[in-house]
Amino acid sequence: MEGDVRAVAWTGEGLRLIDQTVLPERLELLDVRTVGALVDAIRRLAVRGAPALGVAGAFGVAIALRQAEREGWDGARLDAAIAEIREARPTAVNLAAGVDRVRPFAADGADAVAAEAQALLDEDVRGNRAIGAYGADWILARTGDRPLRVLTHCNAGALATAGWGTALGVVRELHARGRIRTVHVDETRPLLQGARLTAWELERAGVPYLVQADAAAAGAVLRGLVDVAVIGADRIAANGDTANKVGSAGVALACADAGIPFVVAAPWSTVDLTARDGAAIPIEERAEDEVLTWDGARTAPEGARGFNPAFDVTPARLVSALVTETGVLEVSAGTTPNRSTHP
Ligand code: MRU
Repeated sequence: MEGDVRAVAWTGEGLRLIDQTVLPERLELLDVRTVGALVDAIRRLAVRGAPALGVAGAFGVAIALRQAEREGWDGARLDAAIAEIREARPTAVNLAAGVDRVRPFAADGADAVAAEAQALLDEDVRGNRAIGAYGADWILARTGDRPLRVLTHCNAGALATAGWGTALGVVRELHARGRIRTVHVDETRPLLQGARLTAWELERAGVPYLVQADAAAAGAVLRGLVDVAVIGADRIAANGDTANKVGSAGVALACADAGIPFVVAAPWSTVDLTARDGAAIPIEERAEDEVLTWDGARTAPEGARGFNPAFDVTPARLVSALVTETGVLEVSAGTTPNRSTHP
């Protein structure tokens, strides 16, 4: 069963990651025992997805403590290494939050940090199960009895989390209830998390799906071929504005025009109440080569420059529902994340 997919695991000595850069061609594991190797894995998306980054960042503090001991680092060198992990990618708030959560345990040593990181990992898996159930209930209450055609963008599955998935957790739950007709999987240019990773997960889970070009998404929604869109999130501002993989905002616009629900599924740890709105969310800009080349060969003319934001922000008014592990907020109808909506 797909529950066996563990993108991030602690071996006792270091992190064991599924190398997501080589899927679906090969399922390879990556053992990480140094801060340099972890930062590199995060930057090149060997480990990726907001909740998985949070867990990797938390275990990363244990890796830093072990390396500090082996190599005789002083406190300043250790602090700099932990900061490097925390800032390896800027948009997913979970990465910094994971590091910050375990940091108070550093005084008690690497094992204490790893134990707290493991608690975060276990909470994430439990939370994803709850997100799946809440999301499926909410969607089914609005879509009636027919088997659903669901659209998703990027990968918010087991690979992007500690297990099960957020948006794909909702899809798995709908499938378990016999309510999935098909999943439209946006390929997710330029790094193809949809075509490579979401399709890999759905294939293993036996969920029917179609991979489509990102450019096909709006037309499919407007032609009435989709009943609901469900995506994950990297950071959600206090007003409900939601940062997710670039292309998400376009899907939301199409859903609003077609009058179908646009659902964001994410753990509460992805909500950043210090960000008032989407303008306060840092958007990662990646290397221009990712959009100027294909499979190592240049596709744009010499001299062309690239614009490569990894994420976009969907305004709260376009988000029908935010599904977290504690329930559902109907964002565009006026309920936005705040302390009173989370115990
Ligand atoms: O650049 P990535 O692959 O890390 O982007 C991931 C996404 O945008 C996901 O949708 C998001 O992190 C939610 S993962 C449950």
